[in-house]
Formats: sequence, C-alpha cells, structure tokens
Amino acid sequence: MDQNKIEKPKQSEYWDSVLDPQNLSEDEEVPVNLLSELEFYEAPAQEFAYDLMGDIEGKSILEIGCGLGVNAIILAQEGAQVTGLDLSSRRLEAVSEIIMENEISGINLVCGSGETLPFPDESFDIVYTNAVMIHMDKPKAIKEIRRVLKPGGVAVMVEPMKYHPLANLYRILMAPRMWRTIADYITFKDLESFDFHFDSYGHKEFYFISFLSFYWQFIMRNLLLFHKSLMILQPIDSLLFRIIPPLGRVAWFTVYWGRRAR
Ligand SMILES: C[S@@+](CC[C@H](N)C(=O)[O-])C[C@H]1O[C@@H](n2cnc3c(N)ncnc32)[C@H](O)[C@@H]1O
Repeated sequence: MDQNKIEKPKQSEYWDSVLDPQNLSEDEEVPVNLLSELEFYEAPAQEFAYDLMGDIEGKSILEIGCGLGVNAIILAQEGAQVTGLDLSSRRLEAVSEIIMENEISGINLVCGSGETLPFPDESFDIVYTNAVMIHMDKPKAIKEIRRVLKPGGVAVMVEPMKYHPLANLYRILMAPRMWRTIADYITFKDLESFDFHFDSYGHKEFYFISFLSFYWQFIMRNLLLFHKSLMILQPIDSLLFRIIPPLGRVAWFTVYWGRRAR
C-alpha cells in the first residue's frame, strides 16, 4: 500500500470508535476493565522490548499511539515518566478516566500525530511504539522519532509484519475491514530504511507457530492457556528462527531498536 494513502481523518475517526483494548471491536462504551488486559501484554515480544529499555525508573518515555494506554500504564508502574501521544482524542479521554479512577501517576497524555511530534528536539530517553508504525507515514515518523530522542536515547518498536501466512488469513477473513485501508505492515525493507536514522540498531522477530497462542488472547480470552501455550511454542519458534534465519521475514512481529549516539 502507498503509505500516503493512509488518510489521517479516516484514521482518527476509526480509532475514536474503537474503545476496545484489543483494538478490535467498534464499541461505544469506555472500557472499565482495561487493567485486566495488562497480563496479556506479558508476551515475548513485549518483554523483549521492555528488556531493551533497561532500567526505566525516572526515564522519560514517549509512547506514540498509546491507544488505550496498556503499555503506558505498565511503563509508568515501573517508575518511568510516560508521555502517551495518540491521534484519537476519544481514546485519550478513556485512558485519562482509567488513570484517574485507578490513581495511576506518571502519565501525561497528548493528542497529536506521530508524524509531526509536538515536542522539542532531544526531549525523551526512550521512544516506544506498539503496532503504530504500521498506521503512519514511516519515513516521516522515523525522522521525528530520531529528532525527539536525547543523545544516548533509544527507540523501541514492536510492530506486526507483512508476510505471516496465518496472520494474513486472519486479516482477510476476520479482522475489521477498515484495517485494510489504514495499515501498511512492516517489511525487512522498512527496517533497513529505519537503520539510516540511528547510530546502532537491530531487530528480532517473534511468533511463527506461536501465532496460534494468540487464539487464547483474542478469541477465547483465557490468560492461563495463553501463557501455557506460549511457553510451549515460543522456544520452538526461537529455535526455528535461529536455524532458518530467512523465516524471520514471515514472522508475525518484529521488535526493532535504534540508538542515538551520545
Ligand atoms: C493498533 S492501535 C495500538 C494501540 C496501542 N499501542 C496498543 O498497543 O494497544 C493503533 C493506535 O495508533 C494510533 N494512531 C494511528 N495513527 C497515528 C498517528 N499518526 N499518530 C499517533 N497515533 C496514531 C491510533 O489512534 C491507535 O490508538
């Protein structure tokens, strides 16, 4: 898809109507049980991303496309000062309600676009995205990410990729139709274009057969079976990715990191 075809009004209008932490159903109600979602985020790609951030106590983190705030809450609970930015004012209102109700501190919410960040140069120790680069004009967004990173800072992105066969089947048969016009999934070519903006960088792929574990997250909502099946399938995936490196191209997710030198 031509990235310039991802229309901004369409994006914010759509996300304003999806107040579901799984980012799936168009539900007019503000979710009250968002905090129950936190444990589903204890998954290998997210945990690897958090490890890349190191000790985040007292660090300033910008989460672009914070959505309903699940990651922002996790990071703030670890002691970071989190700025959650999102295109959807309605989603931010929902997050604001949740953080007030649960007396969660350390989160500042800003409505805006990741392609024109409303922050001065060198503002953040860490910039984080989770399934958001796919909705943005990537060349513009990556330039902005580099700009707002402090020297020594790191960008960490957890993003879905383009060629996983089952993920694509799901995207065609079951995912909201709108996703087809608002998402442009990540390829290795995109990752190479990100490298140009950083002084050191890398990426690691996740979920080939362990894609199946997410049935227990997205369809059946069974946390125990979700974690148990990941415990079995994730080591098999790690082995497969190690012995057959080209398999990374058809992984479901990638975690990319790029560091700005001091
Ligand atoms: C798939 S959801 C992911 C939300 C969240 N990161 C998570 O992990 O649940 C994509 C989010 O990105 C936001 N978004 C889309 N385009 C954006 C842009 N250009 N700038 C900022 N946020 C954007 C949407 O409003 C939505 O909340």
